Amino acid sequence: MSEAVFPVPAEVAARALVDDAKYQEMYAKSVNDPEGFWGEHGKRIDWIKPFTKVKNTSYDYDNVSIKWFEDGTLNVSANCVDRHLAERGDQIAIIWEGDDPSEHKNITYKELHGEVCRFANVLKEQGVKKGDRVTIYMPMIPEAAYAMLACARVGAVHSIVFGGFSPDSLAQRIEGCSSRCVITADEGLRGGRKVPLKANVDKACEKAPVDSVIMVKRTGGDVDFVEGRDVWYHEAAAKVADTCEPEEMNAEDPLFILYTSGSTGQPKGVLHTSGGYLTYASMTHQYVFDYHDGDVYWCTADVGWVTGHSYIVYGPLANGATTLMFEGVPTYPSPSRFWEVCDKHKVNIFYTAPTAIRALMGGGDEHVTKTDRSSLRLLGSVGEPINPEAWNWYYNVVGEKRCPIVDTWWQTETGGILISPLPGATDLKPGSATRPFFGVQPAIVDAEGKVLEGATEGNLVITDSWPGQMRTVYGDHDRFVQTYFATYKGYYFTGDGCRRDADGYYWITGRVDDVINVSGHRMGTAEVESALVAHPKVSEAAVVGYPHDIKGQGIYAYVTLMEGEEPTEELKKELVKHVRAEIGPIASPDLIQFAPGLPKTRSGKIMRRILRKIAEDSFDSLGDTSTLADPAVVDDLIDNRQNKA
Ligand code: WT7
Repeated sequence: MSEAVFPVPAEVAARALVDDAKYQEMYAKSVNDPEGFWGEHGKRIDWIKPFTKVKNTSYDYDNVSIKWFEDGTLNVSANCVDRHLAERGDQIAIIWEGDDPSEHKNITYKELHGEVCRFANVLKEQGVKKGDRVTIYMPMIPEAAYAMLACARVGAVHSIVFGGFSPDSLAQRIEGCSSRCVITADEGLRGGRKVPLKANVDKACEKAPVDSVIMVKRTGGDVDFVEGRDVWYHEAAAKVADTCEPEEMNAEDPLFILYTSGSTGQPKGVLHTSGGYLTYASMTHQYVFDYHDGDVYWCTADVGWVTGHSYIVYGPLANGATTLMFEGVPTYPSPSRFWEVCDKHKVNIFYTAPTAIRALMGGGDEHVTKTDRSSLRLLGSVGEPINPEAWNWYYNVVGEKRCPIVDTWWQTETGGILISPLPGATDLKPGSATRPFFGVQPAIVDAEGKVLEGATEGNLVITDSWPGQMRTVYGDHDRFVQTYFATYKGYYFTGDGCRRDADGYYWITGRVDDVINVSGHRMGTAEVESALVAHPKVSEAAVVGYPHDIKGQGIYAYVTLMEGEEPTEELKKELVKHVRAEIGPIASPDLIQFAPGLPKTRSGKIMRRILRKIAEDSFDSLGDTSTLADPAVVDDLIDNRQNKA
């Protein structure tokens, strides 16, 4: 099998921070002497009290504990804002591009400082103190970034909930970390459509009451106002000072919680802390995107996901970068929008998800080629494996064969990018995330946990800690240990399958647990199942992923109805609506199959392997079905499958 290889272009090499020799040298030092390496690179951020200890981490199952720079103190917001004032106060920190192309705004570091301080003072006025949790449920407007940095400034721990989640999901996440304050907007605006954020907050707070709701005015739409609880941000901000002393925080004080789905149970509150996280987010941002002063950088993620935390806000701002924040969607008002925004703001570095690339690829080349894009120098991909067809289109059509693509593999849990090319150092292979970042030691293990050497395939683990790693599951350290350190003792288990080729390149093959990846959004099949069985007509449900042209994976639900219920098309629609209301639109099942019975072992365990095969329409290789309690159910499932070629 011949594999396409794309060498580092000469122009990229000429300005790059590291070439291959330098990568090799730095990588070797990072794994042979982590104390020395991170002791040096930990100095890239400003410390109030410098650390004297670097690494204190244990992956030992009986004592999992992760601490970096543990005796240092700092403030993350001061690192992202104040420390740039002297040198680049008038440089643009955030370019905000509205949903409507007529709206945009540039915010300098000086202005950012004033805004963040005001927001911090409003938080203080609402009684928010160091250590308190604050839930943020916001559209992609600059106030979302101000709110994050304001929390960091006063030492509060933010928990952002993506604006596409339902009131129930929001309530669960408010309760999960006992937030007393929610920051939201009247409405969001995406693709010309309004998102009823405040109305959702009101509903969520019926289940999970809070002391205060701070509301930013975005659209001016009609919203309810609860006296004594609700505060208009613009009114409160007008009354407070635009300076606010940053709180001195320990390196291991929590910075944020972000809920993410796993293979079992309700979403976990992934906890990230301050010093190590910021060091790692800023260092990866600089090296992976080869960021130089003056570059305009755009990551199209939402701040509701970890990509938005690390690579719209914390990493870029810690580096004094110009970061673009986009409120809208790739196809509004036309499928040229991304490229028009690149031209309008002269974007040099563009970072997006394969699902967006596939959707735009389907719309035809002319939407791209009619734009200029000559400012683009580097392209990035994140969220799911990028198929070679999408990679090639991104490379040839969008980047005109000029721009390397960094395919960055990481997770909410990892805080920052773990495996990725470095543009000046790494020859590219379409579909491969290539090589580990400094300090990251991947290994591939078999089902028994035996480490496999050389070119091989298996499950991806990381054998030692890096500064950006999550520290715990908020309020449940045992769940942290059981989820990530119990499967393969002594290693962090990623949940991903992976192949390593003869050149030592890593190829992520997708999740090996019951987590699916729908348009780059991570979804636990168990969550969708519990939403389905909460419907009065549903007796049992099993959910699996199946290959989907644009979304990467689609959601396929097998549903067994209560005795006497009619399996109608109407009911399917009702179930989709029900799941959207329970979790949010991102969890909508794409295909529903009514199943009189599910394939179970004699002990009653659902055989998901079989359900996955049928959903994939590849049931001629069902494997061993001899342990099935009732083999006949399989024939019915095959006959009535919903994904027929
Ligand atoms: C899962 C993590 C961290 C960014 C956004 C997603 C998959 C992520 C890649 C990639 C192949 C990828 C993995 C991972 N994934 N990036 N470049 N190539 N797979 O964060 O929601 O925590 O999901 O996304 O399966 O485990 P997340």
